[in-house]
Amino acid sequence: MYVCNCNGIREREVRAAIDAGARKPAHIFAHAKCEAQCARCVCDMRRMIQDNRQAMALAAE
Ligand code: FES
Repeated sequence: MYVCNCNGIREREVRAAIDAGARKPAHIFAHAKCEAQCARCVCDMRRMIQDNRQAMALAAE
């Protein structure tokens, strides 16, 4: 499933970027070696980053 249709960034690529340390959408675009275009995917990327942050916090408890 694509998260970013403009750049063809798939969900698994976003997760890989987050696992590699991406903490904001700009980091995900950099990881994918592209730039935001329409930016409609940014909210989904932020949500995925936030979900990952919460999962990591729960795992640390
Ligand atoms: S959908 Fe990601 S920049 Fe347009």
